[in-house]
Order: sequence, then structure tokens, then C-alpha cells
Amino acid sequence: MYGSDCKHFLYKDCYAREIFVFFTQQDFYCYNISVMVVVITGGSSGIGLETARLFSQNKQFIVYVLNRHEVKLDNVNWIKCDVSNSKDIANAVSEITREENNQINLLINNAGMGISGAIEYHSEEEINKIISVNLVGLVNVTRAFLPYMNKGSKIINISSVAGPISIPFQTLYSVTKAGVLAFSNGLRNELRPLGIKVTSVLPGDTKTGFTSSREKSVDNGRYGKRIEKSVSKMEKDESNGVPASKVAKKIFKVSKKKNPNTYYVVGSSYKLLVFLSRILPKRLVNWIIFKIYG
Ligand SMILES: NC(=O)c1ccc[n+]([C@@H]2O[C@H](COP(=O)([O-])OP(=O)(O)OC[C@H]3O[C@@H](n4cnc5c(N)ncnc54)[C@H](OP(=O)(O)O)[C@@H]3O)[C@@H](O)[C@H]2O)c1
Repeated sequence: MYGSDCKHFLYKDCYAREIFVFFTQQDFYCYNISVMVVVITGGSSGIGLETARLFSQNKQFIVYVLNRHEVKLDNVNWIKCDVSNSKDIANAVSEITREENNQINLLINNAGMGISGAIEYHSEEEINKIISVNLVGLVNVTRAFLPYMNKGSKIINISSVAGPISIPFQTLYSVTKAGVLAFSNGLRNELRPLGIKVTSVLPGDTKTGFTSSREKSVDNGRYGKRIEKSVSKMEKDESNGVPASKVAKKIFKVSKKKNPNTYYVVGSSYKLLVFLSRILPKRLVNWIIFKIYG
């Protein structure tokens, strides 16, 4: 096969995996000689679980999920990890890098939680919790895996439509998701010369366990029924939202892009909404949001 009538070469695909291609006079053959290591935070439920399922169906991916509850899925490796705990993160990094020859090709920062209520009613504990899971946890996971990511690797951060469009009584959540966007954009330019690509995915309402897990702070009545009405509208929209598998498909598609955009909104109606929020006067956008969720 390797005689003088056979040409062969190596090239790197969009995931920076080495592909060995050789031609004979009659045919050509391609072999993946490396697999891709994918790390997903928050893989026990909703979007993360569906994303893990999608990657695990392809033998070219070695999939790790990092979260607190056990995940039993074929071809998916679960590592117990609370992203707000630095020791857990360090343990996950050392376990994966030991198994996978210090090579991580794709990091999907998906773990997240929600808290609703009026800012004045949030306890300091609630504030610290959501920021340490949704934002500080995401930053720390990224910091910890980055030394093992090289040219062609990718980071996909899961933000939300609530990042560019802040929602009242979910203000803290919106702050963390806007923070994820700002983090992604800054990191994207830090890593640009290294050939590591960074992008964000912004889902809109999605039907997952997120709705029932949302924590609610006390309501002392000053806002009348506004908090209750706003949160139940959000809950209703989420329950009628798109399935998590739709968001997972988008994440999978984005992971294959050689030069991803800065962010991707999931669903055409949310794309339009985010577009309008960018071109319309900010004061008008804020008033419309007040009318819907205020
Ligand atoms: N659902 C929506 O409408 C929607 C819309 C926009 C954006 N998003 C974003 O999409 C992401 C996934 O949410 P989802 O809708 O799929 O919600 P979900 O079904 O509640 O899943 C959340 C995942 O995050 C993990 N998680 C939560 N706290 C964690 C912690 N401290 N450490 C590690 N993992 C943690 C959970 O795992 P364990 O409990 O096992 O730790 C779970 O796997 C979140 O970032 C969310 O903000 C959701």
C-alpha cells in the first residue's frame, strides 16, 4: 500500500484532529488518527445532557460531563464537580488530562442556575451563589482547562437572550449571562493569536429542568403581584419553549465551525429580538421589556 504509486498526507480538520489521507491509483482513504476530547459542564440535565448525548453518538468524540448529580449515559464519562468549588475543578482537570494525554479540544461551559426576585430582597448568600456558579465558576473552569487547549481548540460558553436583554426580577441572572458574553468577547481576542476559538450560544426559552430548579427569594409585598406575575410569565414561556435537543443541535453545529462568530442566538424569533434590541433606542427596548416582564 505504501509503494511509489501511493501518495499520502496529513491534514488537520476543523477540530484540529489529525486526519491521515492516502491515495492509490484507484481510490483514496481517510483515517482519523486522533479523537477529540469534549468537556461539558452541567451535563446531567436539559441542554447539557442533550449536548452530551449528541456528541456521544459519534465515536470520534470522547465526552466528559462535569456536574454534581450522576450521569449514566453510554460513552459519556461523568466526573462529580461543583463548578463553584475550585478543588472539584482541579480534580476534574487532573483526571481528564491524565486520561487524555493533556489534550482538550472542546470546552462547553453550560452549567448554570437561576434565581428570581427583586434585587432588594436577595440575600448576600443568593447573590454570591448565582455569581459563583454562572460566572466565577465558568471563568475558573476555563482557566483550569486552557493550559491543555491548543490551536484549533474551541470554547463555547452558554449565555442567554437575557444577556443582551436584561429581565426584571431576573436581574441577577441577566447580570451573570451578560458577564458570560463580555467574558467570551474578551477571551476571544486574548486567544485569537493562539488559534483557540471562543464563542457563545444564547438560547431563548427552553423546556428543561431549569424552570423547576429556579430559586426564588422572599417576597415582602412592596412590589404587589409584579414579581409573581413576571416569574410565572417566564415559567410559562419556558414550559412552552423549544426542546433542549434543539439547542444541543445548535451547539453541535457551532462546534464544527472553523471560524465561529462572536455569538449565536438559538431560534429565529430570538434572533430578531436580539437584533432589534441592538438597533432600536435602548430606552424603547427597556420600556418594552418593562411592559412584558415589569
Ligand atoms: N432553559 C432555558 O430556558 C435557558 C435559556 C437560556 C439559557 N439557559 C442556560 O443554559 C444552561 C443549561 O441550562 P438548562 O436549561 O439545561 O438547565 P437545567 O436542566 O437545570 O441544567 C442545568 C445543569 O447545570 C448543572 N449545574 C447547576 N449548578 C451546578 C454547579 N454548581 N456545578 C456544576 N454543575 C451545575 C446541573 O447539574 P447538577 O445539578 O448535576 O450539578 C445541570 O446539569 C444554563 O447555563 C442556563 O442558564 C437556559
